[in-house]
Amino acid sequence: MKAIVVTDEAAGTAGMRLVERPEPDAERLAGLEGASYGDVVVEVHASGFTGNELEWPSTWVDRLGRDRTPSIPGHELAGVVTALGYGTTGLSVGQRVFGLTDWTRDGTLAEYTVVEARNLAPLPGDIDFTVGAGVTMAGLTAWQGLFEHGRLGAGQSVLVHGAAGVVGSMAAQLARQAGAHVIGTGRASGRTAALDFGAHEFVDLENDALEDVGGVDLVFDVLGGDIGRRSAGLVRAGGMLVTVTGPPEARPAEGLAVDFVVVSDRAQLGEIAQRVREGRLRTNIGRVASLDDAVAALNPAERVTGKTVIRVRP
Ligand SMILES: NC(=O)c1ccc[n+]([C@@H]2O[C@H](COP(=O)([O-])OP(=O)(O)OC[C@H]3O[C@@H](n4cnc5c(N)ncnc54)[C@H](OP(=O)(O)O)[C@@H]3O)[C@@H](O)[C@H]2O)c1
Repeated sequence: MKAIVVTDEAAGTAGMRLVERPEPDAERLAGLEGASYGDVVVEVHASGFTGNELEWPSTWVDRLGRDRTPSIPGHELAGVVTALGYGTTGLSVGQRVFGLTDWTRDGTLAEYTVVEARNLAPLPGDIDFTVGAGVTMAGLTAWQGLFEHGRLGAGQSVLVHGAAGVVGSMAAQLARQAGAHVIGTGRASGRTAALDFGAHEFVDLENDALEDVGGVDLVFDVLGGDIGRRSAGLVRAGGMLVTVTGPPEARPAEGLAVDFVVVSDRAQLGEIAQRVREGRLRTNIGRVASLDDAVAALNPAERVTGKTVIRVRP
């Protein structure tokens, strides 16, 4: 099968290569030989890659810290199940699915991938594969950040950093639907998109004073650094700073700070799919490219806003 691999951590996305790799061995998967309990083979139709994936240790080593190169990056997918491993429940061959694959295993920039069935959810027939792959990571990250970790409720206020970006635009939509007051942030160029995605107000981080926001119940941070640090001071007593950028460098004086890494969740994917079908959730897809063009698309000469989705099958 065709797949994108990386072998050189220092090279970053420039080190991506399109090569031939062995297809997953469905027969072996169905038996008890490999440690493949609960895995399924998925024919990948659309794949997503997160910008800084190649900086994560899990791209280079397995769970025991062993070198796992050449590794196939990309962990978001929409596709069709082609084989079931031993012990798989809840899915059938031919079923359309979407979800996130394990960070420490080969991913989805390939014609086929192997993934634990529990990390996949059915993808309804009226949702395009490109949309399915484009909504997975951002949808789950926003959902978990706002509701699971941030415990956001109706009537509360939330500051969503990077609200015109891939994750932030999803958070702005979900938070607004939950009845929260949404203050989006970003660069001046992101104002219209952030308001369009559901922010009630917008703070231009390059020209406005972040501190003028006053107090909020929740900060959803995708930027970190100085902005993350300063945001801790905006959290009201009993509120929370939730970040996806690593351990917080500052904590709210009378609130909590939580950092997390998104996990796949079948029930949440189901909720997300339902909202996409109802037209309540829009993806933020900037570019779609084929697998043959993926290396170039993931190494753009100019910054692409929105998610780049690799359409593995037309
Ligand atoms: N922990 C997890 O589980 C998890 C899951 C998903 C994503 N992430 C991380 O979340 C981060 C965001 O991902 P994403 O896909 O949403 O990225 P993205 O689409 O680039 O979104 C970031 C947004 O913030 C804006 N921005 C960036 N730097 C800014 C600054 N200094 N001042 C004002 N605005 C700024 C960007 O504007 P421009 O486009 O103009 O730069 C963009 O609109 C990444 O670091 C990613 O790795 C973590």
